[in-house]
Amino acid sequence: MIAVTGATGHLGGRVARGLADRGVPIRLVARDASRAPQLDGVEVVGGASYRDGEAMRRAFDGASTVFLVSAKEEEHRLEVHRSAVEAAAAAGVERIVYTSYAGAAADCVFTFGRDHFNTEQIIKSTPVAWTFLRNNIYVDYVPFFAGADGVIRGPAGDGRVAAVAREDIAACADEVLASDGHENATYVMTGPEAFTLAEAAEVVSRHAGRPVRYEVETMAQARASRAPSGAPAWEIEGWVTTYAAIGAGELDELSGDVERLTGRPPIGLEQFLESNPDSYSHLAA
Ligand SMILES: NC(=O)c1ccc[n+]([C@@H]2O[C@H](COP(=O)([O-])OP(=O)(O)OC[C@H]3O[C@@H](n4cnc5c(N)ncnc54)[C@H](OP(=O)(O)O)[C@@H]3O)[C@@H](O)[C@H]2O)c1
Repeated sequence: MIAVTGATGHLGGRVARGLADRGVPIRLVARDASRAPQLDGVEVVGGASYRDGEAMRRAFDGASTVFLVSAKEEEHRLEVHRSAVEAAAAAGVERIVYTSYAGAAADCVFTFGRDHFNTEQIIKSTPVAWTFLRNNIYVDYVPFFAGADGVIRGPAGDGRVAAVAREDIAACADEVLASDGHENATYVMTGPEAFTLAEAAEVVSRHAGRPVRYEVETMAQARASRAPSGAPAWEIEGWVTTYAAIGAGELDELSGDVERLTGRPPIGLEQFLESNPDSYSHLAA
């Protein structure tokens, strides 16, 4: 039985539906059970916040594998992840499949990416086998890089990003969860191409039918332009370094892993926008 966390969210919800369609026994693990997808014959365990180690251990009890969706960003997210990982180990699960981040490293430019690397290390320090899906930026988010004024602002320079569709990550997750041979393997989830933000602006502009452009910011300008949000410094740093990581080349690797796992080429920006016109409705002319 596979315990699926994050099932109330976009990625975990898709993964749960995909596994249910394959007839794989699953249990949905959620903070709020009433918000989990209703799937025939699938048990839902609520009250499971990653921070609550005892609730997580009970939720994972009897599972052979845990699909661990990384938590919403917070200042001490690593401790949140540590709690969930230790609960999975205490429950005696055999494997954790964790949604990590492309370019994750102890000192990567993307500050939230450091949490992902350190979470990988925590998982590796347990006796539990692991599979890491190192996800690039969701292509689903690319249209939202542009504000209502049609400008993408960020310190990404001319860097390239191999953005990947959530749908493709979910399909890969279903494959590595439902089949054998993925123990202690890392897969890098990328789209079919790596584009600059100027190129992304051009593609989004064509679909939205209005001008969209990319304006390079310095780090100082990027921090200042986000300050009015009132968000705490650690969060603004995460937002800003999302772009800086592109500029530093942390997100330009094309891996081919999506096609190897799913047997079909990954969805690119053009294809995503064609199938998801709602994704750029905030830019409507
Ligand atoms: N690659 C990227 O571009 C990118 C972008 C943004 C985020 N991410 C990361 O990828 C993860 C999955 O993406 P998504 O699109 O599926 O996000 P999402 O739709 O926001 O779903 C996140 C899921 O994780 C659950 N969750 C978050 N924090 C939790 C905690 N502390 N304890 C228990 N459950 C928790 C949420 O539960 P609730 O419904 O109870 O909140 C929800 O089910 C995100 O959580 C984030 O870490 C990646």
